[in-house]
Order: sequence, then structure tokens, then C-alpha cells
Amino acid sequence: MKLILLGPPGVGKGTQAQLLSNEYNIPQISTGDILRGAIQRSSELGRKANDFMSKGELVPDDIILGLIQDKLFGEKPPNGYILDGFPRTIVQAKALKTMFEEHHDALDAVLSLEADEKLIVKRLSSRRTCRNCKTVYNLITKPPVVDGVCDTCSGELYQRDDDKIDTIQNRIAVYKKQTEPLIDFYRAAGILFAINSSGSPEEVHNIITSQLED
Ligand code: AP5
Repeated sequence: MKLILLGPPGVGKGTQAQLLSNEYNIPQISTGDILRGAIQRSSELGRKANDFMSKGELVPDDIILGLIQDKLFGEKPPNGYILDGFPRTIVQAKALKTMFEEHHDALDAVLSLEADEKLIVKRLSSRRTCRNCKTVYNLITKPPVVDGVCDTCSGELYQRDDDKIDTIQNRIAVYKKQTEPLIDFYRAAGILFAINSSGSPEEVHNIITSQLED
């Protein structure tokens, strides 16, 4: 199964990608996680990406497309996957379409996660992530047992730089301008499913799986 999770920052793409990955035994491919890993290692990719990410801007298409080409169609292409955070622009979506056509392959579905803006700002500003194992927490809906400490590996929990309120607002504006047009792009392709994502993670997961298995 080849899926795209589309939606504004904080709507729950990463959370749902994890649940789907466990359910269908296919990898989550998160461009955000790949870029944050590169920043942590101070690699050339990380140095290039950091300037954009810290301001809540998108990383240039050519950088992202090189990375995705390699992940999806490189030496060991995965049989199925959940794309989390890619594509993010019409240029990226059209380039992905071309890559699939060249490989006689196709997407199965695009899940467009939707929730009220107030709710996503609340989710983002209360998110904490483990520096070590990257487990995602939420101070309101999924707090760690011990304040500031990861339940899984005892690593330190931190707030992402781009989860500060000013950057959140810019990320939402960038989403509306550059990513929201993808909803119409994939609706026209006949593979878009709108998913109400305001419920609990388990409720949203159940909506998604019942749509996929319908
Ligand atoms: P990226 O990492 O992709 O960030 P994003 O799209 O802004 O999404 P988030 O990770 O913030 O949120 P999410 O929807 O995954 O929510 P989550 O599940 O964590 O991208 C970061 C940056 O990288 C971009 O700004 C850009 O600079 C760059 N980038 C990445 N991809 C790119 C691309 N293709 N092109 C160009 N640039 C790119 O949930 C959020 C919180 O809510 C968590 O605390 C979670 O526990 C909680 N939560 C989730 N679901 C629920 C629920 N149902 N109920 C209650 N709480 C919930």
C-alpha cells in the first residue's frame, strides 16, 4: 500500500503514520524527520535545511525531490509506505507523479487530515519530543509519566524550535498558500479521502482504516 498523509502542521500526520505503519507493516517516510536527523548530524543537507525550517518555511523543492527519489526509487525501493509531509507543493506533487509513471507505479490513496485551526495550534504548542528515540508526547493528551523524561528510553524531552507560537503561525500560513492546493490536485485524480481528525488518535485511526478497507 502506498499512501500520502496530507494536512496542516500538528493535525496528527506523524501520529497516524505511526499507527498505520504498525497496522499494515509498512514504513513511515517523514521528510520532516529525515531533515531533523540531518540537522542533528550537522550534515550538508541539515545545514541547508535548517535556515528554512527554523523560520517555518519550506525547504526548496530540488533538495526534497533528490531525497525522495533516492528513498522511493533508489537501490532498495520499499514495497509500500506512508509518506508523511511529502509532497508539500504542486511542483513536488507533479514530480512525484512523473516518478511513478516512469516506474509504472501508482499511489493507492491520499488521506487529507482536517481539524480546526485552534485545535492544531493547541496540539503543536503542547507537543514534546524525545531527543533520543524521537517518541512524540503531548503535555495535554499524552503526557510522559515523569515530567521532561521519555517513558521509553529516559531521554530528554524537548520542544521543537518550530513549535514556538510565531513559527507555528507562519507554518500554518505557508501550509495554506503552498500545500492546501494539493487537496484539489488529488481530488481531481480521484484518490483523495477527507478525514476528520479532531477525535482521539485511536478514533482517527479507525476512520482511516475503515475508509481504506471499504
Ligand atoms: P514536518 O515535520 O513534516 O512538520 P509538519 O507538517 O508541520 O507536521 P508536524 O510534524 O508539526 O505535525 P503532525 O501533523 O505530524 O502532527 P503530530 O502527529 O506530531 O515538517 C517540518 C518542516 O520541515 C517544515 O516546516 C519544512 O520546513 C520542512 N519540510 C518537511 N517536509 C518538507 C517538504 N516535503 N517540502 C519542503 N519542506 C519540508 O501531532 C502533533 C501533536 O498533537 C503531538 O503532540 C501529538 O501527540 C498530538 N496529537 C496528534 N494527534 C492527536 C489526536 N488525534 N488527539 C490528540 N492529540 C493528538
